[in-house]
Amino acid sequence: MLGLLKLVYSTCLSACVLASPIIWDGRAPFNLTNADLETSTGPFLTVVKGSENATHYSHLLGHSELPTPLWNEGLLPILPREQVISVTIDNSSVFIPGGGPPQFGFRRTDLIAAVNGEHTELLTRMEENTTIFHFSIQKDDLRPLNYSHEYQIVFIEPNDGSHVFGIQLGSPFTDPTGPLPAPNAHSFKVLDHALNVLFSTPFISRTWHNFAVEVDWNARTLAVWYSQDAELLRLVKETTPNPTATTGPDGQGDFHIALLKLPIVNPADSPADQGDVVHHGIQEGTTEGLLYSGVFVESAAQGISRGFDTRGRA
Ligand SMILES: *[C@@H]1O[C@H](CO)[C@@H](O)[C@H](O)[C@H]1NC(C)=O
Ligand SMILES: *[C@@H]1O[C@H](CO)[C@@H](O)[C@H](O)[C@H]1NC(C)=O
Ligand SMILES: *[C@@H]1O[C@H](CO)[C@@H](O)[C@H](O)[C@H]1NC(C)=O
Ligand SMILES: *[C@@H]1O[C@H](CO)[C@@H](O)[C@H](O)[C@H]1NC(C)=O
Ligand SMILES: *[C@@H]1O[C@H](CO)[C@@H](O)[C@H](O)[C@H]1NC(C)=O
Repeated sequence: MLGLLKLVYSTCLSACVLASPIIWDGRAPFNLTNADLETSTGPFLTVVKGSENATHYSHLLGHSELPTPLWNEGLLPILPREQVISVTIDNSSVFIPGGGPPQFGFRRTDLIAAVNGEHTELLTRMEENTTIFHFSIQKDDLRPLNYSHEYQIVFIEPNDGSHVFGIQLGSPFTDPTGPLPAPNAHSFKVLDHALNVLFSTPFISRTWHNFAVEVDWNARTLAVWYSQDAELLRLVKETTPNPTATTGPDGQGDFHIALLKLPIVNPADSPADQGDVVHHGIQEGTTEGLLYSGVFVESAAQGISRGFDTRGRA
């Protein structure tokens, strides 16, 4: 048995390698602790949050939840190699940016890709040539979202506040408020920089939804890959122009793994404030959450990694 296990492991060491160099790995190893999350040690900067400690809003779940099998299963169901991360918001999740007023319109908790707190230099490596952003998302059934609201959950945000691409859930914010929830509110929407929907799929429970978004930073294009649980990623939106994105350093931005909830227009606000989603609007203050795993960024130089046991290329 030991011999077989050794064989399986050594087979994996040679055959289970990922297709392309990994530039940044946010798959939380089991030696990453909540104390590390608290101090932004390891792969996540945890400063974008409400007034409580970082680990009031985001936690590593140890062995209590299984991560996406996409990167954690091989020939045998070997022990997972990463922990699931829970990201939650509550009414205290009002972020106060340095030098700016509190974001009373939003409730948000963001994990930002970093290396022991350093995120600026990382962008120059993570966001050049063609790179692929991987992430897997599962419902936190104990802390459901409110699909009458808009949620921005995964995005790359340059300094101008736009998103190179973004994943949206819920009902897109409108002023005035339309019928709620909007059609398709319970589906993930993968948006390009101009907010066109590139791909949409229902957010069903007890399922890991695996995404990969390929960004060509020079040609300004996007491609989208998706699968559920252990299925290999498949191309769901072929390479498509993303012409409104900016090239060069101004177009680079932090990679957010987040739960950002937009408000509903408050009729009691002035017309100007009704459109100011960052600072105004209605929030119920409920506790809500999402689960993440399988988060990493790879170079596309040798194709895309589609799952644990392949060196499959696009
Ligand atoms: C976890 O272990 C790996 C391998 O030994 C090591 O490289 C890494 O620095 C450790 N991470 C933490 C957060 O202790
Ligand atoms: C935050 O963490 C520190 C150190 O772990 C602890 O002393 C403090 O009580 C915590 N604060 C809150 C608001 O939970
Ligand atoms: C939620 O937070 C806002 C902003 O701090 C506050 O005005 C409101 O009273 C809070 N609501 C609840 C239900 O605690
Ligand atoms: C990006 O492409 C240039 C030119 O081919 C190359 O020199 C550089 O190493 C590439 N960067 C990465 C991170 O692959
Ligand atoms: C969800 O949001 C809508 C719109 O603001 C609100 O009417 C409803 O009460 C909310 N539901 C819960 C459970 O908070």
